[in-house]
Amino acid sequence: MKSIRNLYLSALVLLLFSCSGQQGTTVGSTPEVEKRVEKLLSQMTLAEKIGQMNQVSAGGEVGNYADALRKGQIGSILNEVDPVKLNEFQRLAVEESRLGIPLLVGRDVIHGFHTIFPIPLGLAATFDPALVEEGARVAASEATAQGVRWTFSPMLDIARDPRWGRIAEGSGEDTYLDARMGEAMVRGYQGTSLDSTSMAACVKHFVGYGAAEGGRDYNSTFLTERQLRNVYLPPFEAAIKAGAMTLMTSFNDNDGVPSTANAFVVKDVLRGEWGFDGLVVTDWDSMGEMIDHGFGEDRKDVAEKAVNAGVDMDMMTFGFLSHLEELVKNGAVSRKSIDNAVRNILRVKVMLGLFEHPYVDVEAAKAVQYAPEHLASAQKSVEESVILLKNSGVLPLKGGQRILVTGPMADAPHDQLGTWVFDGEKAHTVTPLKALQELFPGKVDYVPGLTFSRDKRNNFFDVMAAARRADVVLVFLGEEAILSGEAHSLADLNLKGSQSELLAALKATGKPVVATVMAGRPLTIERDLPNVDAMLYSFHPGTMGGPALANILFGKVNPSGKTPITFLRTVGQAPMYYSHNNTGRPYRGETLLDDIPAEAGQTSLGNTSYYLDYGAYPLFPFGYGLSYTTFAYSGIGLDKEVYKADDTITVTFTLANTGKYDGTEVAQVYIRDLVGSITRPVKELKAFERVSLKAGESRTLTVKIPVQELAFVGLDGVKKVEAGDFQLWVAGDSASGEALSFKVQ
Ligand code: NOJ
Repeated sequence: MKSIRNLYLSALVLLLFSCSGQQGTTVGSTPEVEKRVEKLLSQMTLAEKIGQMNQVSAGGEVGNYADALRKGQIGSILNEVDPVKLNEFQRLAVEESRLGIPLLVGRDVIHGFHTIFPIPLGLAATFDPALVEEGARVAASEATAQGVRWTFSPMLDIARDPRWGRIAEGSGEDTYLDARMGEAMVRGYQGTSLDSTSMAACVKHFVGYGAAEGGRDYNSTFLTERQLRNVYLPPFEAAIKAGAMTLMTSFNDNDGVPSTANAFVVKDVLRGEWGFDGLVVTDWDSMGEMIDHGFGEDRKDVAEKAVNAGVDMDMMTFGFLSHLEELVKNGAVSRKSIDNAVRNILRVKVMLGLFEHPYVDVEAAKAVQYAPEHLASAQKSVEESVILLKNSGVLPLKGGQRILVTGPMADAPHDQLGTWVFDGEKAHTVTPLKALQELFPGKVDYVPGLTFSRDKRNNFFDVMAAARRADVVLVFLGEEAILSGEAHSLADLNLKGSQSELLAALKATGKPVVATVMAGRPLTIERDLPNVDAMLYSFHPGTMGGPALANILFGKVNPSGKTPITFLRTVGQAPMYYSHNNTGRPYRGETLLDDIPAEAGQTSLGNTSYYLDYGAYPLFPFGYGLSYTTFAYSGIGLDKEVYKADDTITVTFTLANTGKYDGTEVAQVYIRDLVGSITRPVKELKAFERVSLKAGESRTLTVKIPVQELAFVGLDGVKKVEAGDFQLWVAGDSASGEALSFKVQ
């Protein structure tokens, strides 16, 4: 909701100048909305205003909240999705409170409501914003049918440390990809115009939360303003420009200031620079946690700090409800701040049409859940998100073989759904085992080997015997859902339990072994790769993981997912990401540990930035993923050698499918700004395109990049494109391709 006031001004201008009278924006306030908000505001007591600023988790009986609802002490609830109960909640608010203001009902609908899509990290691996938008639309249609009109998604935290369990919930390490995915989700949740299937998006966590020290959740961050502006803030700005109606502050303290009281990011940047007049909510008790941070003495103190930093709604601290009235009366908080906060809340409620349609049709709600087209969309999302990491030629499989299915994730209907699933039911999950048994009746043996991912059993005789009887072994490994997500940081990223031992045992049978890893993060699988003939990586795929994976394994679908995050060789490399700075001593292939003689003399001259034991490179770079076919890039060219700051760069290239299968490639365009007023990353993604080509087909493609996309905040603190020399690559991943050169004047 980029400055709703600005939007409606521009809408007004459009109205005046266009005969059709169409509005210039799809999501944005109107003079009528503002009039309604002001009218309501003028009728409210201070206590009623503060009530709107209070969000409550609604467990148990509706009756427990009746008194507070009648008094107008609750503006929003979360964690109730029973449509019968929600209608009763709304009835109490709408019909029994003085002003009849409906509740805003929130829920963590993170990757689907009932129909569960791949986790957001998996969605990012599709590099397909249109498909991600479609998935968010599906989630919105299911959730809104039951009365949920606000989701706490998308999570836009750039995450470069896979130890952080919440890496599962975002789009990975890259600012550009994250921004495109964020915009897509916002469009999907809210719809192109607001109606009863629109669910307000909430961009979170503002800001820097993904840089938690050591990947330990909730930990401190120390991001400079320039890092924030160049890396962490742009996805939020993009999602807000795309119309996101709400935003959530984060748990972390950045450079000593907890986000929930960070007036610089909330007031100056978000509200001031970006003109955001949507709703800002705290994270769950993040206001109260400022006491633990040592940033406030008590709930009154932190309530004052949060509201004065620009926060509108308190999720579960009850600090506003208990203390704002007193803080206003003693002058610590102005009435104007309260009015602004309440405006922001009411605006969202009015725009969502909650005053007109507070209730849902309970019977109709049932019909929408798990609709066949929703399941189809979820399946397509998995098919595009699965990444082929290794293939010695065994894939795609041919039908007619005797198959052994094994491993802890082969038939794990709960765990393949992934983190942040409150509403998707495992009874609807189609596991790989189920899908394969349906496809090849009588041809599939199933011996799980391990019952869950942390299972430490070390006797695999039964699995090995079954493997010897089979033509091919399909082993499904990974992480249980509970090992990633909030508060689930890990210090060791190897496959848990005896999974690596199971793989080694399978390898020893001499049968072809195809592994599929389902996980919430990029695990360190280097030691496992030699034991498999092929490996597919599927971030937790959700409800339809089974059929999608079966289609890929048997070649009905050619894998096209690309890593949205660098895959490490060992956890000690974290954080490692492709868009790092060059340093004064970039790696030049020096000595590794085993090359150092005993009693070696002290030396550092000539050495560069790398690990003696693991070198300088990851296992798989960002943007990486194989296909059953091969692709070749040629004829890469630019329309000019020298560009002006307001030009657009036109990149032309020919992409050929040089293999035997039809396939889809994600063509990626990276740039490097060679010399800047500050040091710049060695590569930055600036465009990507999914291109489907028949076997043998080639196509000439054009990608346009406005030179302004090269802008960054330099030494003077101003965001602009700096003149000078640049390089550009077009390739299938971030580590390939030949550089072209161009200049910006
Ligand atoms: C805490 C999490 O950090 C946030 O992402 C989530 O939306 C809220 N709890 C509400 O459940």
